[in-house]
Amino acid sequence: MRGRKSGAMGRQSGAQAVILIGFMGAGKSSVGRALGERLGWPFEDLDERIERRERRKVAEIFRDSGEPEFRRGEHEALRELLNELNAGAERVVALGGGAFAQQRNARLIEAAGVPTVFLDASVEELWRRCRQQALLHGSERPLLNRLENFRDLYEARRPHYLKASWQQETGGKAIEEIVAEVIQALGLGRSDKDRSDKDRSRERGETR
Ligand code: S3P
Repeated sequence: MRGRKSGAMGRQSGAQAVILIGFMGAGKSSVGRALGERLGWPFEDLDERIERRERRKVAEIFRDSGEPEFRRGEHEALRELLNELNAGAERVVALGGGAFAQQRNARLIEAAGVPTVFLDASVEELWRRCRQQALLHGSERPLLNRLENFRDLYEARRPHYLKASWQQETGGKAIEEIVAEVIQALGLGRSDKDRSDKDRSRERGETR
């Protein structure tokens, strides 16, 4: 299942940035890196900006200062990043799984007019990917504990994620396929001067 939410923005041919959202294990970083390469836009993981600003790893912030302190740092980092995007920076951004579920963050993003893509998969698939990353790469996720909690959190956040400009299914798809579908759906990376006369005529509804 994939699709655009009703009333969502039209094609974003002029967009210079895109924000990837979704639950832990959705593939925001791997898809984001590949999408950035395809578009020639730098990739940024918001969690890394938080870690640089706070001079601590995400897991340390959670452990030593608690989730509310992490959310405060996340909001400030997002505000700083959006200022850069508003100033014209090109970027593919991956947000941590909880960021878009915070209303104040979603509102900031909406006000900045940056298109958002919700990367989705079944909760079982998301769980499997996270467990695999923990085993293979030792990735630490403070909110990854039991499957039941993981599922409850996913279900609580999903209505927020569904407010994204585009919902992209990732289950069973190769990264390149996902990247191509996102580019196509949002009309990314194509300025008006790059579009052919044929494209323009098709968009005007002319048959030839
Ligand atoms: C979080 C997800 C993590 C990270 C933090 C909180 C969440 O990012 O921001 O541990 O609330 O779901 P990923 O979604 O990249 O794992």
